[in-house]
Amino acid sequence: TQHGLADRYGRVATDLRVSLTDRCNLRCTYCMPEEGLDWLGKPELLTDDEVIRLVSVAVTHLGVREVRYTGGEPLLRRGLVGIVARTTALEPRPEVSLTTNGIGLARQAAALKEAGLDRVNVSLDTIRPDTFQQLARRDRLKDVLAGLAAAREAGLTPVKVNAVLMRGVNDTEAPELLEFCLDHGYELRFIEQMPLDAQHGWNRATMVTADEILAKLSERFTLTPDDASKRGSAPAESFVIDGGPRAVGIIASVTRPFCGDCDRVRLTADGQVRDCLFARTESDLRTALRDGADDAELADRWRRAMANKLPGHGINDPSFLQPVRPMSAIGG
Ligand code: GTP
Ligand code: 5AD
Ligand code: SF4
Repeated sequence: TQHGLADRYGRVATDLRVSLTDRCNLRCTYCMPEEGLDWLGKPELLTDDEVIRLVSVAVTHLGVREVRYTGGEPLLRRGLVGIVARTTALEPRPEVSLTTNGIGLARQAAALKEAGLDRVNVSLDTIRPDTFQQLARRDRLKDVLAGLAAAREAGLTPVKVNAVLMRGVNDTEAPELLEFCLDHGYELRFIEQMPLDAQHGWNRATMVTADEILAKLSERFTLTPDDASKRGSAPAESFVIDGGPRAVGIIASVTRPFCGDCDRVRLTADGQVRDCLFARTESDLRTALRDGADDAELADRWRRAMANKLPGHGINDPSFLQPVRPMSAIGG
């Protein structure tokens, strides 16, 4: 499109990440406290029609080519299958994907595929039930594993697995998790923990870094940087295992930031545009939408929302402040 979602640094957002709910059925310690959070209320949430209206503006007027639905946990959103179907029906058809914890995916994978969903990324930090309980505070490992298998069977591929390593909890399990994913045909990516948890417990000193992850994996595998795969704006750096063709990814947001190549923009479940995961301001599209704004006006507001996008997340600046919203309310 002539007027896409460009920022002042020449980056253009073509990848829209939409949070469909801030609720979740797990309580991962790196994300939220045991008691949960102050969830958004029904009147604040965009309806299915409102979600589609805004996504349609992004796709047809603003050059967005990829739409990823996230949460919280997006499978908890009742209308998810319908939302996916209406998104894949847009012209030009965007690529549509889902980031989920996998609980309930076994039941919904076939319907999601039918609705046109292209692929899924599933969070899985451990394959040990006791570690899962300790990390996610719920005994749901079996549901997650069933969801992963169902996604693969349904052809929601490539199925990617996201793993956050927590020191003293699951960091020593990295090689066995990789072994498991290789055996089952899932593309594993390890993620450096970011300061986005609701409890503000992130600590640079205890964060497991990309270098440590690579060192730990190298005890069991030979890893070489995958120069053939063009990374582009993808957060994950790819490493070939034992000469290939299998690979593992590392998302090193903290120690190797990739903000210079960012092509992302986010929409929260309550209709606020965020120009960055770490944005300190948001632009309210819900009010304009409910006041009857037409597509051109919504597109215009969205373009203007990109003007203040900062060059980087600032995690490594001494003056860094965590965004007010936690990860679960932004959509990862
Ligand atoms: P693919 O298109 O499959 O590569 O998806 P993805 O890796 O971008 O998305 P996913 O939702 O699976 O996120 C994986 C991890 O990357 C999560 O921890 C996200 O928070 C993180 N992530 C996704 N987008 C960004 C981003 O723009 N900036 C940073 N710093 N991290 C991001
Ligand atoms: N830092 C990094 N990744 C996180 N995720 C959740 N919280 C954090 C955090 N603080 C991951 C989830 C999921 C993805 C969307 O983001 O495990 O895989
Ligand atoms: Fe883009 Fe912000 Fe993520 Fe950096 S932290 S890659 S600028 S969304």
